[in-house]
Amino acid sequence: MNEAQFRHACGQFATGVAVATASDESGAPHGLTINSFTSVSMSPPLVLICIDYRAQVLQVFLRSQHYGVNVLRENQQELSNRFAYRTEDRFSGVEWKRGQTGVPLIEGSLASLECATRQIIEGGDHTILLAEVVGIHTNSGEPLLYFNSRYHRIG
Ligand SMILES: Cc1cc2nc3c(=O)[nH]c(=O)nc-3n(C[C@H](O)[C@H](O)[C@H](O)COP(=O)(O)O)c2cc1C
Repeated sequence: MNEAQFRHACGQFATGVAVATASDESGAPHGLTINSFTSVSMSPPLVLICIDYRAQVLQVFLRSQHYGVNVLRENQQELSNRFAYRTEDRFSGVEWKRGQTGVPLIEGSLASLECATRQIIEGGDHTILLAEVVGIHTNSGEPLLYFNSRYHRIG
């Protein structure tokens, strides 16, 4: 098996797209696009996200006790690209508010989860952040999907 085959096989697993967010010590918001979000346990309610150890924002997530997961709507592809590729001012012009835990919540997301980090696990070239969900906010609508390295919509 080579890397391209592994990447291709994993790309066959369709996912949603989310922006994971956290605040730094000064309260400034940070975030990155992820599709590694997974629900893990119902009782207690646990989820995980995986962040590349090369991501600039990883340190913010490691220092913060909480992070947010903002599940994107089908019309939020621009937000996904912004939080994946833009290097500065990712939040400029983005409507967001602070949740009860202080994490940045992106307005208009299909769902936003406020998560308290419980375990930090090394996973090869990624860091796995296992967390307990301590707050949820949901809206109705259709999700943005990611499959085979491209965005898709239901239907
Ligand atoms: C659809 C999509 C899903 C992504 N999923 C992840 C992910 O789960 N974990 C990750 O570390 N990076 C993921 N990325 C890449 C990061 O968004 C990107 O490397 C990150 O914004 C870099 O942040 P930095 O500027 O802080 O280094 C994904 C990108 C896209 C477009």
